[in-house]
Amino acid sequence: MRKIGIIGLGMLGNAVASHLLDSGFEITVYNRTKEKTLQMKERGAKVATSPKEIAENSELIIIIVKDADAVKQVSFEKDGIIEGNHEKLIVADMSTIDPSESKKISKKFLEHSIDKLDIPVMGGPNVAITGNLVMMASGNKESFDYCKEVFEKVANKVFFLGESGVAHSVKLAMNLQITMLALALSEGITLVKKANVDPKIFLEILNSTYFKTGMSQKKAYQMIEGKYNATFTLANLKKDISTMTNTAKSLGIELPMIKKAEEVYENAVKAGFGEMDYTGIIEYIEKINKSK
Ligand SMILES: NC(=O)c1ccc[n+]([C@@H]2O[C@H](COP(=O)([O-])OP(=O)(O)OC[C@H]3O[C@@H](n4cnc5c(N)ncnc54)[C@H](OP(=O)(O)O)[C@@H]3O)[C@@H](O)[C@H]2O)c1
Repeated sequence: MRKIGIIGLGMLGNAVASHLLDSGFEITVYNRTKEKTLQMKERGAKVATSPKEIAENSELIIIIVKDADAVKQVSFEKDGIIEGNHEKLIVADMSTIDPSESKKISKKFLEHSIDKLDIPVMGGPNVAITGNLVMMASGNKESFDYCKEVFEKVANKVFFLGESGVAHSVKLAMNLQITMLALALSEGITLVKKANVDPKIFLEILNSTYFKTGMSQKKAYQMIEGKYNATFTLANLKKDISTMTNTAKSLGIELPMIKKAEEVYENAVKAGFGEMDYTGIIEYIEKINKSK
């Protein structure tokens, strides 16, 4: 498999496309906003004018767009993937979306004889650029095995989890961890600052314990310095949190903390923090405490 199409050159898509290009694959890219394709064009990727053209030029298409509506748009609407269908085409969706939506999308692709795999990932553009994502995959095992060589270029760990939709359920549970860690650090730092303690000391103590995490060892230091180099936006995490609460509802389970987190992130987006990195949630927590 050499010919790969990438649909969506946002933060994650751009890094994945760059890495696959550097790894020697023949890459064709499409992005709704054309200007974002210029950098990849300069680096030697082909640029398609539609998802249909991507399909015509690819054996494997990796979709990396915002949400389920965007996936459906590039797949099934005018000049979408299905219009460029051919015998050997496989589609893999790396976007983080609702597991039940993912199943419906797979079913619709199958009506056009296209296998669609779910390949959500952990890790942002910084690790995607070196092929070190962690991938959760689900869908048709035969198609997965056929594409595995490409997936292992993108991710240093690839977990095949079963039938369509399952990988997205696990991905939501992973982003639930990210949500809680960002909030716990934000509230912990805000608390010690109000108590006149240097937050760096707080982090030094936390990182001396069993409760340290990658986030407390890296991004937390940027959080206390007010530096938020966006690799995953707060608005996109809010989108995933809402998917978690909807999924919990459809599974008939109660997840009280993520419901509370949804409220906090929703208010932060409303207050204008949406385009910051998701760790910028600390700015919102500090803002609501300014007058106190
Ligand atoms: N960044 C991360 O660390 C990370 C990690 C794991 C998973 N993810 C997931 O990967 C996906 C992309 O994330 P990102 O960080 O790259 O987001 P991003 O920078 O906000 O990019 C979003 C991409 O989706 C496209 N898009 C949005 N709505 C569209 C529509 N209706 N039709 C066609 N294209 C549309 C955008 O096109 P335009 O340029 O035209 O707006 C852009 O290419 C999301 O599902 C996210 O949750 C991200």
